[in-house]
This record gives sequence, structure tokens and C-alpha cells, in this order.
Amino acid sequence: MDLRKALLAIRFVGLRTALRAVRAAWERDRWEGREVSEPAAWSPVKPLQRMIPLPDGARFTGPDAELEIRFLAPDVVRLTWTPGVLPLPYAIVRERLEEVRVARGEQADGWTLESEALGLEVRADGRICFRDGAGRIWRVEDPPERRGEAWRHRVRLRPEERLYGLGERAAPLNRRGRIYRMWNRDPGGSYGPGADPLYLGIPLWLSLHAEGAYLVFYENPFEASFDLGASEPDAAWVTFTGGALREYVFYGPPSRLLERYTALTGRPPLPPRWALGFHQSRWSYESAEEVRAVARGFRDHGLPLHAIHLDIDYMDGYRVFTVDRRRFPDLSELIRELEGQGIRTVVIVDPGVKADPGYAVYREGVARGMFCRLPDGRLYRGLVWPGWCVFPDFTDPEVRAWWGEHYRAFLEAGVTGFWHDMNEPTAFVAWGEPTFPRRVRHAMEGRGGDHREAHNLYGLLMNRAAWEALRRLQSDRRPFLLTRSGWAGIQRYAWTWTGDVESSWAALRQTLATVLGLGLSGVPYSGPDIGGFSGAPSAELFVRWFQAAAFMPFFRNHAAKGTPRREPWVFGEPVLSIARAFLRLRVRLLPYLYTLAWEAAQTGAPLVRPLFWLNEQDPALWEIEDAFLLGSALLVAPVLEAGARAREVFLPTGEWYDFWSDAQRAGPARVLVEAPLDRLPLFVRAGSLLPLAEPEGVTLHLYVSSKEEGEGMFYEDAGDGFGPCRVDRFEWRWEGESLRIHRIREGELSEPEGGFRLEFHGFTPARAWADGRPVPVEGSTLVAPPFTELILEGRPVRSPA
Ligand code: GLC
Repeated sequence: MDLRKALLAIRFVGLRTALRAVRAAWERDRWEGREVSEPAAWSPVKPLQRMIPLPDGARFTGPDAELEIRFLAPDVVRLTWTPGVLPLPYAIVRERLEEVRVARGEQADGWTLESEALGLEVRADGRICFRDGAGRIWRVEDPPERRGEAWRHRVRLRPEERLYGLGERAAPLNRRGRIYRMWNRDPGGSYGPGADPLYLGIPLWLSLHAEGAYLVFYENPFEASFDLGASEPDAAWVTFTGGALREYVFYGPPSRLLERYTALTGRPPLPPRWALGFHQSRWSYESAEEVRAVARGFRDHGLPLHAIHLDIDYMDGYRVFTVDRRRFPDLSELIRELEGQGIRTVVIVDPGVKADPGYAVYREGVARGMFCRLPDGRLYRGLVWPGWCVFPDFTDPEVRAWWGEHYRAFLEAGVTGFWHDMNEPTAFVAWGEPTFPRRVRHAMEGRGGDHREAHNLYGLLMNRAAWEALRRLQSDRRPFLLTRSGWAGIQRYAWTWTGDVESSWAALRQTLATVLGLGLSGVPYSGPDIGGFSGAPSAELFVRWFQAAAFMPFFRNHAAKGTPRREPWVFGEPVLSIARAFLRLRVRLLPYLYTLAWEAAQTGAPLVRPLFWLNEQDPALWEIEDAFLLGSALLVAPVLEAGARAREVFLPTGEWYDFWSDAQRAGPARVLVEAPLDRLPLFVRAGSLLPLAEPEGVTLHLYVSSKEEGEGMFYEDAGDGFGPCRVDRFEWRWEGESLRIHRIREGELSEPEGGFRLEFHGFTPARAWADGRPVPVEGSTLVAPPFTELILEGRPVRSPA
């Protein structure tokens, strides 16, 4: 640890805990030191000898290893090499997606398996080739190798191949060329680009190459290393330190891959609508009065605010599930007041339970055997904010149920969301791994195991405990959970933020690739601490970060203890007015964001998408990481450089509208776009629909392409709960000079009372008929009663830039 990091750590944890961290590291080393050393050499599996047919695949046996291959759907296949502990199905919600007919064959040096969509060639030596329906090879795995309990294999990479995913990474969007570690980790209060690993790794990648796209998910929670072409440019080496070598391989275009992957690991549920608004946080607002003052500040400055987060200082001595009654004498009264202003309250919950015999959660947990133990039977103790703590074993269903009950009192007090932190899990140490010793025992649903297997699952299962409790305790509300750590499947339970990122321009730029990478790993809801966590952003950096975050799923202002205050008014003008404008824009965007959230819940499509989502066959889009798509309608190009008042934007093939001026541009083109401090380059794709909240009510903005058809949708419901909803899908096409819009309605929610307000861009309607009846037109807008078909006569408008 360098001196700067050490000082930062002392500032955050206090001198006393920092000194104890020396003891913690020493104790951890004592345990780690007892690990047996591994045999030195890797050896390939001995040749497979026999194929045993299975209804949906086959099993291949050899003298020292077995390979099982099962198709879950024609385009999804699971491969499992054993020996090794099979994973508990924590990531998985379904064992099978569709019926598949598998054809098996034999050839000179092995066997073949084929579904309607893909074919596998299994060579006796263990090499596996994946082909598409036309016989083109899109993945080749060399025979796997073993060393002790570890597995590794080599996957060939094509020269042009790009790789994405791996969960949360402070790395370029295209992950190729580096080594990544799969071991969730708190980087220690601050990190910048290049730090690895971070809090939330997911062992999957999405590959794009000239022959198409595929996704591979390794269902193995043990520590792993993903060397994606760093040691050998044309190969990836994947190494797991334990467990069976199991992977799911999906074939198809990116949107289909995410749809299939989230069919297997679970879809991100629809969040409550308020969660898509703006969240204000700070470590910490230390008293009820301070919280009231913040809310007042937002009101007085005309700044929309949807949630306030209470960081660790609301607790009594950092004891989880307690409240400091001196500083927060009546939490429920405070929450009611905030609710009255439309502000929800989110409280932080850390997994570490203070080892304090005078504290009920500790006492009860010890009595009922809820905490993790060392192999000698003693409770494992680690250091977190409260000092020495013990830790619930979330791999035990009884512990999850017990833990979940503790949310009840908060719910009764009106808390609407929970923020789970330090769940990598993190335990402070003066050196080495800031987590549990690997030999700490875990229940693993009763079958037993240790921290080597449970570590990466800890955050996922903490969220599962809370999610299941919230669904049980308040059946009429959608849970809102925010987590720092997680694993595959975390999208079923929680949102995430990018943790303790430093306050720098480089970190702002990194945020885009990090959020995009999470989305491609199945985690659609994420966002950064605006301005960076651990530092003092300049007014300009704060503004640029604020503008970028306004288009990310999770939009929160948060900062570390000891940093200057960061509520938008602190910076004075022009920052205050700019923040206000972007907060109001966010509110305008809510109907669109909410529609995207619904889409994510149906298909797993991330809200924030890389540009190649438009066309994965266009290599020009493969590495763009300084801009992103929000849904399929918006292209957002944040300003990422100090002093810049213009920036270059790559517009993909198609027609584009400048959001601010309606000026039209044609892609593909690299364009220089003005970006004064109060603007960021923002484009709307022609042929798309943007539902926005306008003063007159929700307005469906149709951005008409002069040549092509268009489509879009609008989702509505009560904003929370599980009541009726309505989806309106619109499709339009040109018929000569007239535009024909077709609406398909789904769902039980009643039609909007005032009908649909439509505003046209790139087209001025002169006359309109809704299902044959004339509708008055005013300028470029009209209000139509609920219709199936709307026909418009008018003229296209061209406003070139
Ligand atoms: C961790 C979190 C940070 C939080 C702090 C205190 O560093 O990442 O967001 O403010 O702990 O709880």
C-alpha cells in the first residue's frame, strides 16, 4: 500500500481501526498460510473415450475427466468439465429454455452434436469447435488443463475479434489485451482507470467478430483470471482456481444474446418509477436537521429531487439496523416530511455486524448461529466501520430469512430503498486481501464450502436475502436495492453504482465504458458518484459529469467524507442553472426511461447501449466508448475534456436530429458539435419515438425519417406496485405523401384520458384522421383520441445543420 492510500484509509476509517487493521492482516495471514501449496504443472485432460447420449446432448468420458454437453435451446448450450464442485444454481433461474432436438454423430477424431442453430465438434483430445448453421466457426476451445483443483482453457481469438463484459471494470469497453481478475474487491476508498478487480465481477464475455457474435458465461464463482489476449495476442486463457469448468455459450446478435442470457439468469425487474429520478447523497448527512436543510435547498433552488440517501452516520455507532436517536430523533417523522415533498429515503445497510454483546443483532445472531466461522469453529471477525464485526453467512437460507426480517422496522418507518455496501465482502486489513480468509466456512445451502467458493457470491446473496424479504414484507411495492457488489444474476435484485471512483477527467471518461460494460454483462442499472467519490471536482468537471450522468440509469450525486460539499448550489452560477436544466431534462425524460426499464424487464436489453447495438456488423462502431445510446432513440456524447467547448461525434449510418435544434444530419459522419458548458451533444435517431413529460402532459415525439419507416413504444402504469399497465407500440410508414401510424395496445390500464399528444419532428402535418375521424392539427403537434390508425397529410421539413 503506498503512503497516499494509507493516509486516505486512515482518514476514512479512523486511526484506531487503521491500527487494528495490522492485527487483522496478521490474523488473516495466519489462516491463509495454512493453505496447502498447489502442484506446479498444468496437465491436459486425457483423451475422451466414449460418448453417452443424453436427450438434449451427450456425456463424454475419459480416464481423468468428463465432459457433459446439454442444449438448453437451439442457440444455447451448456458445457461442464468435471471433476470439480458443481455450482449451486445461484445465478440461474431456469434449467431449460426451449425444447431442442439434438443430432449426434461420430467422426474420425471425435464426435459432433448439432441443434437447428448450431453445431459442436468435440475432438477426443478435448478440443471443441462451435459452428453456426452454415458451418462457419465462431469459437474454438483448446483442450482444457488441470492443476490440483484448478481448471484452465485456451480460447482462440480471431484477429478482428472484440470482447466485452466481465461485469464492472475500469477498463476500455473492448476488454481485449488485458488480464482481469475475478475476485470482488474494494479498491480501498478510491480508484481510477486501470484498477482491477473492482466490486462486481461477472465471468462472462460478449464477442463480436466478422462471423457474428456470441456470449459465454462461466458458471463458476471461484477466483478466476481472464487473460484476454494479453499473454498471447490471439488467445484468451481462462483459469478457475476451483470448481467444475462450466460454461453456457449463446449464439446470435447482441440483443438476442442479452435476451437469452437474462432468460437464464433472470430479468431485471421493473423498478419503482421514482428510482429513475435524481438521488442526492453524501457520506454523510449526519442529522435529521441536515437532511431537512438539503431537501429545503433543492426546493428553494427549484431543483427536482426524488431520493435522499442516508450513509453510515445515521446508525448508532455503525451498528447495522439501528438509528442514532440523538441525531435522528424521529426517523419516521423525517421520512414522512420528505415523502410529502416527493422525496424518498434510502438507507445504507452494511453486512458487518458489530461484535458487541450489548447489541441485539449480534447477540441473537450468535445465539442462532448466523455468522461465518473459521475452520476451528470460532467466529470469524473482521474490521469494518464499527470496528470488529462478524458476518452473516448468506449462503444459508435460514440466515437469509433472519437477516431479511431486520428490514421490517425500516419499512414500517417508511424507508423506501436500501443501499448495500461493503458486501464484496470487505474487511479492512493493513496489507493483502481486504476480505475474509479463504478458509472461512460457508453453509453453501447445507452442502458446505468455504470462502474460496462463497466470496464472489456474497454480495449477490445479501441482495437476495433483502429482495426476498421486501417482496414478503411489502407485497404492494417494488423493492429498490442498490448494491456495490454482486455476481451473475444480480440484475434480479439490485442496481449498482460504480463505487469509490476518483474525481478526475479520466475517471469521468472511464465511467462510460464501465456502465456500458455492466449493461453488456446483464446489469442494466448503474451509474457513478457524480463528480467522483474521493476528491474535489472543479465546477467544470462537476458540470460535465452531471450532464453525462443525467443519461445514465442511476443518477446520483455522492461524495466521500471530508470532501467539499457538492449539492448543485454550492458551486454558484452558472453551475446551479446548468444542473437545474439537466435535472428538469431528466424529469422530462422519465416516460422514456420508464419505457426502457420496462423493455429491460422484458428482454434484458440494457438502457445504456454501445453504438454497435445499432448494427453489430459495422466494425466502425465496435470501439466507440466516448458516446453511448440511451435506448434506441438517443445518442449521447458527453464532454470528457477540461476546457472543451466542442467535440467530435461519430454519427452511425442513418439520419439524426440534433436534440437541441432539430437540425438534421446524415450518418455515417464524423461531425464537430458545439458544446458550450450548458450543453452536451445529444442526437435523436430518425425513425424513433421519444415519450417526454411536457407541461401539457406526456408527449410522444416522433422523429420522422424522410425515407424510412419508424417505430417506438410508450409504457405506463401507476409507477409502483403490481397493478395494471399499458404498452402502446407505434409503427409508421410513408404512403406516398402521407404518413400512416399504426398503434398496437397491450395491457389492462385504461387509455390516457386526454388521448395521445403527438409532436412531429421532420414533418409538418396539415391534416390528420384518427381511425377515419378528422383531428385538429396545431403547428407540428396534435392531440388524437386513442386510435388504431392515424393518417397524416403534410410535408417533410428539412433543417440541415
Ligand atoms: C464506501 C462506499 C461509499 C460510502 C462509504 C461510507 O466507501 O463505497 O459510497 O459513502 O463506504 O459508507
